[in-house]
Amino acid sequence: MKYLCLVLLATSVLCGKFTDKLYEHLSRKHANNNFIASAFCVEIGMSMILMGAEGKTADELRRALILPKDKKEVAKIYDQLMTNLENRKKVAVLDMANRLFVNESYGINRNYNKLVKNSFRAEVEAINLRDRAKAAWTISDWVLDKTLDNVKGIISPSNLANDESAVLVNAAFFKGYWKSRFKRKSTKVMTFHISDTQKVLVPMMSQVGIFKMRSSAYDRIIEMPFAYSNLSMVIVLPHNNGGLERAERTIDSFSESLDEMQVHVQLPRFKIEFRTELVDTLKKMGIIELFTNSSNLSGLLKRTGTRISQVVHKAFVEINEEGASAGAANAGTFLGVSDFPETVSSFKADKPFVFIIRDQSTIYFRGRVVDPLSNSTIL
Ligand SMILES: *[C@@H]1O[C@H](CO)[C@@H](O)[C@H](O)[C@H]1NC(C)=O
Ligand SMILES: *[C@@H]1O[C@H](CO)[C@@H](O)[C@H](O)[C@H]1NC(C)=O
Ligand SMILES: *[C@@H]1O[C@H](CO)[C@@H](O)[C@H](O)[C@H]1NC(C)=O
Ligand SMILES: *[C@@H]1O[C@H](CO)[C@@H](O)[C@H](O)[C@H]1NC(C)=O
Ligand SMILES: *[C@@H]1O[C@H](CO)[C@@H](O)[C@H](O)[C@H]1NC(C)=O
Repeated sequence: MKYLCLVLLATSVLCGKFTDKLYEHLSRKHANNNFIASAFCVEIGMSMILMGAEGKTADELRRALILPKDKKEVAKIYDQLMTNLENRKKVAVLDMANRLFVNESYGINRNYNKLVKNSFRAEVEAINLRDRAKAAWTISDWVLDKTLDNVKGIISPSNLANDESAVLVNAAFFKGYWKSRFKRKSTKVMTFHISDTQKVLVPMMSQVGIFKMRSSAYDRIIEMPFAYSNLSMVIVLPHNNGGLERAERTIDSFSESLDEMQVHVQLPRFKIEFRTELVDTLKKMGIIELFTNSSNLSGLLKRTGTRISQVVHKAFVEINEEGASAGAANAGTFLGVSDFPETVSSFKADKPFVFIIRDQSTIYFRGRVVDPLSNSTIL
């Protein structure tokens, strides 16, 4: 189960490699912290840059992203993908936004914007990057607007250097509406074990329902579907603190089918916001020339030799009790806490866990919850 496998099968056997690698780099870099990212969203942004790149710059991007040589084909893949995303938007709050902001001294090729508008629903905008306060406000305000006010402050003036030439910004936001929602009155304050020695009290949601689950000697895996969509959250919960690394590997290659059973699910409410700058990570993944003065973006800009000076990613996910609407309550599956028959399995997320949010063909987010109360914004 990898991103774009269906469409890319003809061109590559390594599909999903870019997103997998990016998660690997990021989760290692930010180990032992809450973490959420949408490598999928970053991939869309970098593919959009590829559409305006030529020469070695384009070759490196193509190799890292595993995309076909023919740009028309790339455009077609993304057009299809964006159409699917837009159709789904009516039922799930999943927002992804990509835009390249370039210093106004570089002219933008009009054809390029036409192309990415059609196939990526994205755009390149020229702004004055010299006025840092104004530039930061312009960029942050655009992101806020695109994510329905949920992704705030992606750039502050201090994040912008004096010689900023082009900044790629991508933001992703997801608000989960469970198919089988939790009842607010069933949420109780409970202990969450951050580590063997460190614990916090968290609001722990609780419900009994039919879910797909399996348990092994190391961990438990559950899949919880979201309403009116094919989206679901897959959670890998290691039995022991310290089992997170193994859990990352498990979720990395997760494709197995789980068995349906009656499960008592206990899951903390959480909200994770995560901001990261990606140039160094992308360089490690083989995209190098794009970030140097010899970059070739001749399809995008009227003047070549303009490097992309920053790539900023911010993701935000909020998980709570809610169903899709008042009418969508799934109260029928709820039992009082004391009346569980012995056949009910338990999934109690009272220690760190990892998760993905996905549908059949795409992993939209991957994250890790170490401390549900920490709303740390990293970097
Ligand atoms: C960019 O690449 C194109 C196509 O390979 C080439 O024609 C052009 O000369 C290159 N421009 C620069 C500045 O390297
Ligand atoms: C950005 O544009 C201004 C003019 O608007 C120019 O003075 C400045 O040198 C440019 N900066 C870079 C890094 O290109
Ligand atoms: C879920 O996936 C199936 C099969 O791909 C599709 O027919 C259906 O329209 C999808 N449902 C939603 C709500 O997107
Ligand atoms: C790239 O260009 C900028 C601005 O023209 C300059 O300050 C910087 O030193 C150059 N970097 C390299 C690696 O040549
Ligand atoms: C979460 O963020 C808010 C606002 O920035 C802050 O007041 C609060 O202390 C933070 N909570 C934790 C647990 O860091």
